[in-house]
Amino acid sequence: MINLPLNRLQPGMVMAQSVLNSSGASYLSRGQQLTTSYIERLRQMGVRDIHVSSTMTSGPKVPLPEDVLQERTRAIAVKRVYDMFQQIQEKKTFDPVPLGKASAAIVNDIMARKGNLVQLTDLRVHDMYTFAHSVNVAMLSSLLGVLCGLTEAELSELTLGTLMHDLGKLNIPKEILNKPGRLDEDEFNVVKRHPMDGSNLIQSMPFPNAKQLAIVARQHHEHMDGKGYPDHRRGDQIHIYGRISAIADVYDALTSVRPYKKAYAPSVAYHIMRNCSVGHFDEYLMRLFFSNVAIYPVGTVLDTTAGYGIVRRVEFGKTERPVVCVFADKDLRLLDKTFDIDFSETSRDTIDKVLNDTELLHFIHEMHFDPAVLLVEDGK
Ligand SMILES: [Fe+2]
Repeated sequence: MINLPLNRLQPGMVMAQSVLNSSGASYLSRGQQLTTSYIERLRQMGVRDIHVSSTMTSGPKVPLPEDVLQERTRAIAVKRVYDMFQQIQEKKTFDPVPLGKASAAIVNDIMARKGNLVQLTDLRVHDMYTFAHSVNVAMLSSLLGVLCGLTEAELSELTLGTLMHDLGKLNIPKEILNKPGRLDEDEFNVVKRHPMDGSNLIQSMPFPNAKQLAIVARQHHEHMDGKGYPDHRRGDQIHIYGRISAIADVYDALTSVRPYKKAYAPSVAYHIMRNCSVGHFDEYLMRLFFSNVAIYPVGTVLDTTAGYGIVRRVEFGKTERPVVCVFADKDLRLLDKTFDIDFSETSRDTIDKVLNDTELLHFIHEMHFDPAVLLVEDGK
């Protein structure tokens, strides 16, 4: 999978992500083969780049990693979160039933596919960031909730609560919310009010379990070392819902495109959360999270001590050590015969780095070879 700017797209390439319009409906679905008119339409929509499964324009298709949520579940949930924000803004209240159904559908999808690793979250191209983000955080939180053994009732509470976790952002002026640069102290103080505002709003809603549902909104920015906000809770003082959603929230924000940053690869997000955010997260939950979220998703091209290779398989609990198909030596010469290394079974070789999209594109051009083709053979 590679992210290409629009001028590099060619008819025949296959979309690896859906493109949603501003009401949350899907305009182009993942798996769709691009045509000249689709590319033109994307240009008109103001889309600047797109993930495609490979640079190949013909021949057998590279299998796309399966999303944990069904496309319909995701699209409806995004729309429901959007509706909730709209209704609250206009009428100060909203009908909780549709959102509850969307939340139940997320939990259902998670339960039905809990053996699947998260290979991609939501490669999103639309201006519905807050809403799509809320759905993704709910999905990732629900997944982590299952892994740590929450009951079904707790799971639905956590998921519904997470869909509403950023409601308090309604009170943040748009100039601050979408500011590209760093926030100054006053601006950050405004942002810091959203957990409290969101929690108050949820508790004023006609939910029988409103208090429980408000926990995620109130606690998703607390840190284990007490340095988070708004209440500076530490360790066990932070409810399990708060500890879970904090991890899901940061992971999704890091792997998303924002006005002020590119999307980080899952391996970079992993590194930042493990090494640059010491004291923020519950260590046990974070280990559990990354045992089920691929650090090197299938199709990632790696520079390893054994040469260049593409991730062929990732297994639960071994996401740091995938099975890699090596196709070129360290001097970038294609091998006559590729070979697989299972990094979970060798300590001799190590992964040096992940090739980013620019490097990968350069690589494909230099070598006249798209490593994604090796995954096609796999799918036969
Ligand atoms: Fe937040």
